[in-house]
Amino acid sequence: MKHPRSRHNPLCCFCYLSRLTQIFILLLILSSFPLILLYFHGDFSSETEIEEFLYELQHSVGTNSSEAECASLSNATQEQYPQCLAKLAWMKRGWKMHQCYQDYGADNSVCSHREYLSKIERFCPPMKLQKSKFSVTKVKKLPPDYAQMNRDMTDLFSKMSDVPRNYIYHKKRIERMWSQWSKAATINWEKHPGTMNGRRKQNILVHMGFLAKESKLNFAEKSKEGGPLGELLQWSDLIVSLHILGHQLYISTDKSTLKNVIEEAERAPPCPTMDGKSKRIDLIITDIMGLRGLKKHRAFLVNNKCRIRLVDSFGTHVEFTDKIYFRDHKKELSGSVPKNPWGGHGLAPQQHWTFFPHTDDNTFLGFAVDQPLEEIRPMFDRQSSKAVLVYGKEQYMWKGLEDVIQSVKEVAEVHATVADASTGSPMFADVVNHGLLDTNRLYSLLRSVKVFLGIGFPLEGPAPFEAIAQGAVYINAQFNPPKSRLNDGFLAEKPTLREFTSQLPYAERIGRPYAITVDIHNSTLLKKAIQEAILLNPSPYVPKELSTEGMLLRLALLVEKQDFCNPDKTDSWPPVNQMQVCSFSELFIKSLVNYYFVSVVIAH
Ligand SMILES: *[C@@H]1O[C@H](CO)[C@@H](O)[C@H](O)[C@H]1NC(C)=O
Ligand SMILES: *[C@@H]1O[C@H](CO)[C@@H](O)[C@H](O)[C@H]1NC(C)=O
Ligand SMILES: *[C@@H]1O[C@H](CO)[C@@H](O)[C@H](O)[C@H]1NC(C)=O
Repeated sequence: MKHPRSRHNPLCCFCYLSRLTQIFILLLILSSFPLILLYFHGDFSSETEIEEFLYELQHSVGTNSSEAECASLSNATQEQYPQCLAKLAWMKRGWKMHQCYQDYGADNSVCSHREYLSKIERFCPPMKLQKSKFSVTKVKKLPPDYAQMNRDMTDLFSKMSDVPRNYIYHKKRIERMWSQWSKAATINWEKHPGTMNGRRKQNILVHMGFLAKESKLNFAEKSKEGGPLGELLQWSDLIVSLHILGHQLYISTDKSTLKNVIEEAERAPPCPTMDGKSKRIDLIITDIMGLRGLKKHRAFLVNNKCRIRLVDSFGTHVEFTDKIYFRDHKKELSGSVPKNPWGGHGLAPQQHWTFFPHTDDNTFLGFAVDQPLEEIRPMFDRQSSKAVLVYGKEQYMWKGLEDVIQSVKEVAEVHATVADASTGSPMFADVVNHGLLDTNRLYSLLRSVKVFLGIGFPLEGPAPFEAIAQGAVYINAQFNPPKSRLNDGFLAEKPTLREFTSQLPYAERIGRPYAITVDIHNSTLLKKAIQEAILLNPSPYVPKELSTEGMLLRLALLVEKQDFCNPDKTDSWPPVNQMQVCSFSELFIKSLVNYYFVSVVIAH
């Protein structure tokens, strides 16, 4: 179900607030003053400075008329290039500060600044040719540094080294899937040469805040026991994709690495260097913990906010991105916990990259389903069994589900991979418990069972797609009424209004023969679904958008095209009329128009 999106200016509510709240807000604004100052101490000028600059240009004696013309922008152009004048005014003072501006041909004239800003930094619109009688030739053409396919795994691993134990999981997964990524790269370069070649090589800072010691989450440790956590899996796939796509990566999981990368970037000249190899950071991919770490580098954060991409599994709706808006609408937006600990970062909604394609506010990053190229032998013969594997590796996930498991036992053989099952528990009687399995043995079990049964938790994990990729049918637990932050403890603090109609709403769209969504607490319906699933016999399947090939293509486009620093570029990509839908039902197709190519290919 789609929510009405409210996009009106949150600040307009100011006038309705009580005096006390007004004072509070004023204090808040004042306390962020250093931040505002910092912003204008960057390479932009303030409103007053712009006015002074324009006034001088018009009125001082002896000013050359073409100079004034170079700074005259129509109102419409100003809307399209909102930072052009502020940059121009700043250049008047700032062009001497760095040699690199002069290398590009900037001198004391406004026209040379305008040309630099149009051609090199793209803050201003291009100038009309007939007006370009000045210094055009001085602006040297930038030899582009293109991103080339990089299949050197050792090179990648050498960059994952700041805290070695943090990368144990990533390296294992990357190594195991390397041949799949490699093959996917070849296919993409063959199928989409226009997209894969001619991409700008970017400097990308990848900071996994959730692995930092300060976060105290101990994720890396847990992954050794609990098996793949969605977060680790997605970060592995993200890192390997960016590397194969040929970008320069700076990978960090702790504060001192982060600090070093930032300090080096800040020492780099502000303009792209003449060899086309900038030292500046083009993209910062991090998570909410990482964003907290970045807040300690305020100036860097303020100047680079538009370069941030937040890896954000469940997504963040626009209602939660602005702190003040949330505070004023707390009641409507919350259930029993009127808090917004994960939102309020003021990023553009599409700067949030999600796990599944679930909200058109955000951007779908996704992950890749492992499809081992080599044959994995099944643990036992699928056809002669009626085996159902229960999705839930820890005993607490099974809590209160005695009736459900009992119903399954009546029509099938129950298998489990629970590490901490208590012996003597009646629930585990007659259950074939394999305990914790390593990846290959898990796949071999998934190749043998007919059904992979979801029991309601965890929400939106990757495991059901691993099962479907091995030919099992996923039974998806339906939630009626749907779960959301209004009625569910786990979702209460998540910054999204999404309603979970099942454990994995995305599986509802995939449908039969790969997935059946059913109310598992209705034993008649559950037993019927299992009996149906046993007869379905689907072929192993990976949705295109969750394949290594799909992820590489998507990420190539996201990194190249998504641009929040030039506001005029953001809306126009991807062009809706260029999107093609490959599969899925009519209803889904309609909702797709707003998605970034969930299962679509962009004609280039
Ligand atoms: C441009 O905007 C300014 C200020 O908003 C306004 O005074 C002026 O009339 C506008 N000019 C045109 C040509 O619309
Ligand atoms: C006016 O400025 C342009 C560009 O800055 C320059 O090429 C031209 O020579 C100047 N004209 C005069 C008369 O100074
Ligand atoms: C189970 O579902 C069937 C079909 O929707 C319904 O008729 C039946 O009443 C349900 N049983 C329970 C116990 O809710």
